Amino acid sequence: DPVATPDISSCGPADLPPSANVLTCCPPPSNALPVDFTLPDATSLPLRTRPAAHSVTADYVAKFNAGIAAMKALPADDPRSFAAQATVHCAYCDGSYSPEGFPDVELQVHNSWLFFPFHRCYLYFFERILGSLIGDPSFAIPFWNWDAPDGMRMPAMYADPSSQLFDPRRNSRHAPPKLINLDYNGREPRFFTDKQQVDHNLRVMYRQMVSLSPTPSLFFGSAYRAGDEPNQGPGPVENIPHGPVHIWCGDPNQPHGEDMGNFYSAGFDPLFYAHHANIDRMWSVWKGLDARRHTDLTDPDWLNASFLLYDETSKLVRIRVRDVLDTDRLRYRYQDVPLPWTAARP
Ligand code: C2O
Repeated sequence: DPVATPDISSCGPADLPPSANVLTCCPPPSNALPVDFTLPDATSLPLRTRPAAHSVTADYVAKFNAGIAAMKALPADDPRSFAAQATVHCAYCDGSYSPEGFPDVELQVHNSWLFFPFHRCYLYFFERILGSLIGDPSFAIPFWNWDAPDGMRMPAMYADPSSQLFDPRRNSRHAPPKLINLDYNGREPRFFTDKQQVDHNLRVMYRQMVSLSPTPSLFFGSAYRAGDEPNQGPGPVENIPHGPVHIWCGDPNQPHGEDMGNFYSAGFDPLFYAHHANIDRMWSVWKGLDARRHTDLTDPDWLNASFLLYDETSKLVRIRVRDVLDTDRLRYRYQDVPLPWTAARP
């Protein structure tokens, strides 16, 4: 059977480190039963194009800042607030829920085939909320284009300390112009010139997206069904570069790598959503690399897995994996940018 999020009133304490700066990760209660997700109406909702974060205009940055500021200004018990959105991640990653029908096992959206679809759903509502708060339903969140040389630094708009997009709990040694290392493991690579680092990153991308991801079951990660123990096994992209980018951003001087370097705190860094937009883009890119062999999974336990998330009107929505396979139907796309790593066969 598919993993389903239970009634949110059963949300319980998260497994948090003792020093954590949050107390609970449960969402604000809903006074109504969840409604099933319906696709946005193509005639009223404009197609949104998520841009590469390093290529946006000053107007875009101002608008994005205004949106994050509006989310941060809402009280934490408003499910649209930045704080409530950030804790969604903690609830689904730190054991606040048990899959419906299995109160003794923890629900975990990482390290399995739920990784890509859960984060797609999460970003979808985050983006709709942000757009509605600034009165612009066409607003699209940016993606951190770390798979191409021009995007291999922390995007400038996130590194400006006066910005809403800044987070002081980051590794200060990795502020721009430092190049990211896509398979960072907590130690700095010793002898890399910038050119060597870029080439290394492109080869990492080729290995994870092409060599290690020839079939859907390899790309998406291990099956994870109702009643299974969590962490059945990540796909190659969840493993690298997804994990290393988190660790590279988090502050090694915080007790648990906060914010980006720990599940419970990652959503508190606005950069999280740009990192995950690029992860989400990799799902679309992977399908485009080989239309015949790179398809979505067809297992009903994947297609029917479901999550509970609040939408931009503060309505609690049950959304299934099968609802989010086609981003055009969700009314968004990614800016078309070069894929230099497709030529970086080792
Ligand atoms: Cu839900 Cu990047 O982790």
